[in-house]
Amino acid sequence: MTSEQSLLALLSDGEWHSGEALAALLGVSRTAVWKQLNRLMDRGVLLERTRGRGYRLIEAPDILDRHAILSGIDKNRSQRVTLDVHKKIDSTNRALMSDKDPGSDAIRLCVADHQSAGRGRRGRHWISPPGENVYLSMGVGLTGGFAELGGLSLVVGLAVAQALESMGLANPRLKWPNDILVNARKLSGVLIELQGELDGAIRVVIGVGINVHMGNKEQRVDQPWISLDQASPDRSWQRNEIIAHVVNHVLGSLDRFERGGFEVFQAAWQVRDALFGWPLRTEPGSYIGLGDGVDQTGAYRLKTTEGEVLLNSGEISIRHDNESAD
Ligand code: BTN
Repeated sequence: MTSEQSLLALLSDGEWHSGEALAALLGVSRTAVWKQLNRLMDRGVLLERTRGRGYRLIEAPDILDRHAILSGIDKNRSQRVTLDVHKKIDSTNRALMSDKDPGSDAIRLCVADHQSAGRGRRGRHWISPPGENVYLSMGVGLTGGFAELGGLSLVVGLAVAQALESMGLANPRLKWPNDILVNARKLSGVLIELQGELDGAIRVVIGVGINVHMGNKEQRVDQPWISLDQASPDRSWQRNEIIAHVVNHVLGSLDRFERGGFEVFQAAWQVRDALFGWPLRTEPGSYIGLGDGVDQTGAYRLKTTEGEVLLNSGEISIRHDNESAD
């Protein structure tokens, strides 16, 4: 723990603490405590200060912290991990994609508090306001061929859903290929970009955006969405903890994916399928049919009047009663 984190931990009970007592507990001078308190306040921590009583924590915002993230990552992997934490960046995926010399075994992580040009799938913009959400990219090497990459994006979406479930999120669903929905609203999206080949391995950049604290004052998102605070208000969602859980689950799943392919994940993906049994339309192609789950490669099955159609790319959406069958 950094000294600021130790100080925050002491204050986290919401009780009054004198500067003298804090200094004694931390083994530093009162001046050092005073400087640390000022730094915390600069970072948005709300403290009350009263002569004779000392300091009391009113509200601690969810601050991204490098040490807290790294200490939550599984020890057997943390040696290979390098982590950059940015206050503001254009896009964490863009940053890792421009990494010229990543090394085949390195795991590069990049997180940001705010993205000015967050990238979404199919050239869309990912709205990324400051302080609200998780914007995480992971640069990793994968052995195996390019043919595997279709299943990869489903495996990552499933791993993110499982990470959030392990933290207490109830019933996240997967919308093929890799959106995570709660109550039919988008909670998280995944964007995978191919970095190229290096020493016989493919390197990919896996970008994950998760809505955490975003509230209804955010009006720019052009599809139904939900945040973790809204989906599961009884839990206090902390971004450092979420990032570490997601990294652990994704890296664990990638190991299993390299050994067994998508087949190993098919059943777990299937039980979370948000589109199963729904009337669907595809884009492009405009097929119409009923959602019928994924096959062992991760392709989506659509039951049409002319038989089964397998989708390897594109988008699927629920078809509403008032749409014409053109
Ligand atoms: C989607 O369209 O559903 C995918 C959204 C992916 C957004 C994340 S946020 C972190 C990373 N950096 C980016 O620029 N995009 C991804």
